[in-house]
Amino acid sequence: MNYEDFVQKVTSYGQEHLIKLYERLDDNKKEKLLEQVSNINFDEVNNLYALAKEKKEFSDVEINPVEACDASKLSIEEKERLEKIGIEAIKSGKLAVVMMAGGQGTRLGHSGPKGTYDFGLDSHISIFESFVKQFKEAEEKYGVPVPWYIMTSRENIKDTVEFFQSHNYFNYEEGIRTFFSQNELPMLDEDGKLIVDENGLIKEAANGHGGVFDALVSNGVLSQLKSLGIEWIFICGVDNILAHMVDPLAVGFSIDNGFKCTSVSCIKANPEEKVGVLCIKNGKPSVVEYTELTDELRYAKKENGELLFSEGHLLMNLFNVSVISEIAEKELPYHVAHKKSNIVDEEGNVIKPDAPNAYKFESFIFDAFERLPQIGVLRYKREDCFAPIKNAEGVDSPETARALYKAYHNL
Ligand code: UD1
Repeated sequence: MNYEDFVQKVTSYGQEHLIKLYERLDDNKKEKLLEQVSNINFDEVNNLYALAKEKKEFSDVEINPVEACDASKLSIEEKERLEKIGIEAIKSGKLAVVMMAGGQGTRLGHSGPKGTYDFGLDSHISIFESFVKQFKEAEEKYGVPVPWYIMTSRENIKDTVEFFQSHNYFNYEEGIRTFFSQNELPMLDEDGKLIVDENGLIKEAANGHGGVFDALVSNGVLSQLKSLGIEWIFICGVDNILAHMVDPLAVGFSIDNGFKCTSVSCIKANPEEKVGVLCIKNGKPSVVEYTELTDELRYAKKENGELLFSEGHLLMNLFNVSVISEIAEKELPYHVAHKKSNIVDEEGNVIKPDAPNAYKFESFIFDAFERLPQIGVLRYKREDCFAPIKNAEGVDSPETARALYKAYHNL
């Protein structure tokens, strides 16, 4: 894009503040800014701003609890039967894992990619290495390496790849397939202006883990999966150190029931726990995120005193490969987060806010559930499947996760 086109584009979309900022940049950055402006879809930016200003109405939404299969209540024979189906699929190389490691781990206070975090075991292994151990155990058990695809963001791809390189891929090179990046979206200020960061460039942020579908398609991962004959992908986050990625029961349960997606769940620890809840929204499988759950639903109880909406969504979802491109075809809805962000004003001053001043836009993987007629929900005991590392201290911290990990592995 040349300077004239840049001026015309930003002027016609009311983003003239970028012109003044452009003047202040060195040649290298000027070129980068032109490239950013050329790539940004300004109509989409306008739509995102309208979304940020929209008042959310939940009145026309009917939310009901979802039915789950409680794994601990299956008979031994039934469990074995389902696992056998899953094991057969795994042994024939039909399962792969996609790990969403694009988040920044800001809440944890760790400066590198979250997966590189040493969560304090005596062995000092990182989160990534703990997963490698699982993959190696699975390879030994099932006789095939389960391919592992790692989704990063543009911000952390370099550090993530370098981390694996410097550890010689933890000797699991045959399994670690590809690192690929999700897309980004610009952040906006309260007036809908594109935010410029301390580098003098437009501030862009990862577009949420719902971006995984599009990223799988646009990076060629989906076609690779298909050509390898893979039929199931287990898509999970990077922060749950008890996530069982190679889970024959989940695979067998999905195949046996004809589900194109199965979400692994556990019962919420308490109404305030920061997990989304699996539910049926307007007749469709769905998740209401903890930030969007009303108090009425959060505290609603069944007659027996249990929480009505208690099926915690753990970001562990098994998808059939056949539905991925269909889901990727149409963008998932965006959710708006109101955040604090340093902003560079037209005079080049850095403004450090005391209160949220910026909008960030993210799509969520679970919004894809509504595109499917039904999904399976497979519930495990939380001590067997959920030890998230999210915060530096307190709940969901390295300390709590480590204790759960040690108890599970008898360390
Ligand atoms: C998330 C889920 C919530 C679930 C909980 C379980 C969302 C919006 N909500 O909450 O329903 O109950 O985990 O622990 O995710 N990530 C990316 N790219 C992004 C954003 C996130 O790869 O653009 C990855 C992160 O690296 C991380 C995972 O997604 O592995 C979770 O992201 P985070 O934003 O921390 O979600 P939570 O608020 O913990």
